[in-house]
Amino acid sequence: MKKICTRAYGKIILMGEHSVVYDKPAIALPFKAVAINVEIKNKQEKNIISIDNNLYDFNNLPSEFTGIKKMINLFLAEYTQNQKNFEMHITSTIPKQRGLGSSAAVSVAVIRGLCQFYKVNLSQKEFASLVHTAESIHHNNPSGIDTSVIMKEEALLFESRNKMSHFSTALEAYLVVADTGIMGNTSQAVNLVKSNIKRNNNYIKIIDDLGALTYRTYERLIRKDIEAVGNNMTTAHRLLSELGVSHKALDHLVETALNNQALGAKMTGSGLGGCMIALVKSQEDAEALKTKLESHGAIKTWSYRLKELES
Ligand code: MEV
Repeated sequence: MKKICTRAYGKIILMGEHSVVYDKPAIALPFKAVAINVEIKNKQEKNIISIDNNLYDFNNLPSEFTGIKKMINLFLAEYTQNQKNFEMHITSTIPKQRGLGSSAAVSVAVIRGLCQFYKVNLSQKEFASLVHTAESIHHNNPSGIDTSVIMKEEALLFESRNKMSHFSTALEAYLVVADTGIMGNTSQAVNLVKSNIKRNNNYIKIIDDLGALTYRTYERLIRKDIEAVGNNMTTAHRLLSELGVSHKALDHLVETALNNQALGAKMTGSGLGGCMIALVKSQEDAEALKTKLESHGAIKTWSYRLKELES
């Protein structure tokens, strides 16, 4: 049998991270500059799996891959009868723990690969539920936004796992993404917000404000009002900092972006490290900002035209 090759792209949360865990809306975009690639072929005796070139016996995967292991075992038990074994290679260009969706993308790419390898057709619901199994182990109480945008590969207004809609990103604007190089931790960040809320009720007001801001930003996106979208991104960053999930390296990159032609800037994803995003008007502004951000500590930068998401 020939080799199966599948892929899943990263994601960017434009607005609504953390508040989405409290049933508020969020806006997410696919991020196609980075991806997880999976190759699968037949193996004689037992299932083996390599992750970033480290080879493991599937039954002896290190504990950090418990979620993936459980998800694959569930898939094999529920959807396959034949006992053929696999050799799976997972490689990634999505930096880990930077808020770009690497864990959900691994799960999506793996299930895509297994579906082809075992010739299984899953409904969207069955697919999402398998990925959710892994995500629930990796992250505490995931909202499902990462899984949804990575599966659908389109701009989404996400209101819940059962309610989300695609919208057009045909805006004349560019998004610059900058990696602080600092690893965040989604469970830790989600738990921090939870304990802050438990300790002090004022934190719930921040969640409410983020939810309202996300709806207003969505309306502005639809009206193609990029100035307002930019301003709202900066407001969201301030609210996320108040929530306790920013990091001084993120604040510094946001400041740098705002001093260098950005219409707005914010952290993206769960925070405590990870990436910053900034909105700019033109490709020239995006290139100039990338250079500035790199001279201010970003270890890697990317940019993309929002219109490109339409193709
Ligand atoms: C993680 O990409 C986004 C968070 O809101 C967690 C979640 O929605 O599951 C921090």
